[in-house]
Amino acid sequence: MILDRVKPLDAILAAAEKKSLKRSLGWFQLTLLGIGCVIGTGIFVLTAVGAQKAGPGLMVAFAIAGLVCIVAALCYAEIAAMIPVAGSAYTYSYASMGEFFAWTVGWALIMEYAIAASAVSVGWSGYFSGTILGGLGIHLPSWLSAGPLAFGGAEGGLINLPALLIALLVTWLLVIGTSESAKVNAVLVLIKVTALTAFVALTLLSADFDVEKFNPFLPAGIFGGWGTGVGAVGAAATMFFAYVGFDAVSTAAEETKDPQRNVPIGLIGSLLFCTVFYILVAAGAIGTLGGQPILDAMGFPLEAGSQELARQCAMPQYSEALVCSNEPLAHVLKVLGFSWIGNAVGLAAILALPSVILVLIFGQTRIFFVMSRDGLLPDRLSTVHPKYRTPHIVTIITGVAVAIAAAFFPVGRLADISNAGTLYAFLMVAIAVLVLRVKDPERQRHFRVPLVWLVAPLTVLGCILLFFNLPSAAMLFLPGWGILGLVVYFGYSRSRSHLGRGIVEVVDDVAGEETMMPLHPPE
Ligand code: ALA
Repeated sequence: MILDRVKPLDAILAAAEKKSLKRSLGWFQLTLLGIGCVIGTGIFVLTAVGAQKAGPGLMVAFAIAGLVCIVAALCYAEIAAMIPVAGSAYTYSYASMGEFFAWTVGWALIMEYAIAASAVSVGWSGYFSGTILGGLGIHLPSWLSAGPLAFGGAEGGLINLPALLIALLVTWLLVIGTSESAKVNAVLVLIKVTALTAFVALTLLSADFDVEKFNPFLPAGIFGGWGTGVGAVGAAATMFFAYVGFDAVSTAAEETKDPQRNVPIGLIGSLLFCTVFYILVAAGAIGTLGGQPILDAMGFPLEAGSQELARQCAMPQYSEALVCSNEPLAHVLKVLGFSWIGNAVGLAAILALPSVILVLIFGQTRIFFVMSRDGLLPDRLSTVHPKYRTPHIVTIITGVAVAIAAAFFPVGRLADISNAGTLYAFLMVAIAVLVLRVKDPERQRHFRVPLVWLVAPLTVLGCILLFFNLPSAAMLFLPGWGILGLVVYFGYSRSRSHLGRGIVEVVDDVAGEETMMPLHPPE
């Protein structure tokens, strides 16, 4: 049977017990951790893409995406507090639905983490080119600052050199063992929140703020049409990216004091904080500069990242348009006359976005690592560097792939593809919570989702709603990627699986202890 291999939860928990991390985190640290991973390219860059899809309806889009993430976060919190080991949604699925589904989740998480890292690299590149190079009077030719036309990049693009370089730099930092300390995270959160607060205050209080700019509020409607990815829900499907990363908070459940109270406060607190901030930022940008989409001859928003949009944006009448900017927040402030504050906001993005890339590539390598230790990917991938004690091979492979995708694809497309994979993983986590409630009701849960039979199905429905409002290319990517995954699973992984061969091997961390358990220990 294809669905027969379910990893025993006891074996997974044996590793967690061995590790027994100190419970030191309170709700405040958890919230900081969440905000540190979450605020990034989504708000700093995709605001322009979201406005092109929904106009002022971008504010509704942020609210919808935030809500879906809050219910998903509750599901993550329960399962992460219960199965506090590396591997996130992949491990949870292994323990609840078995190896086959775990494989599909692990495979989808590659879309979540690696492609998201590419998207954030491209976002960083926009700010770097605009603020640093622009500030120095250096104008990077368009063939070096965006991916090629064939992929819908800016006109004349060939390769996004800054995006390629930042992804490689972060990869190198990870290979030599850099991890982000809580202090560095706190400083970066402070920088990001200060930048966004300054943006909100200056725009909402600006003399240029005009409620007329919100009219029409929903120029592309609530649902823009199947496969188009426009309208408020289409924009929500893209802006969902702005919330991705909160799963990092749930994986810290094991290190949290009083997790029943602090994990949901940390998760929901950071997501609510970001939702309110995002809506205010969108209101400030649209109320001052305006955020109506550029339409085609039929009155329909042009596709974000498309060649036609790039051509329109090159026209003088759109030189200041929000939807055309690669560094929208800095751009709004500069147009309003706050040049140096605009540059400071740009600098904040330049400083803070690499840490988001770092967390995402780190997350990706740890998932590969766990899958390889389970025998589903080649053993060599989990080789640990003798000096740096990092999984350098898998880190380099991941980093190079991230850099290549960043060099050639536009940010909106990457974010949409990443979202498709993430939505699948979130959906599976919600199902896993319900499966474990039924299969293993007595197991201790440090945090229980309130009204689980309402919240988990809502998560599933929310993920389905957003998925089917992505542009068709991003939607189709998931089954295409899935088919490739099945070929790898049945062609390679299934016969080599350690669980399939009768060994349950649980390794909780790269440099961690290894627990080997025969599936059926002799009496
Ligand atoms: N949420 C993260 C960002 O917006 C991935 O950059």
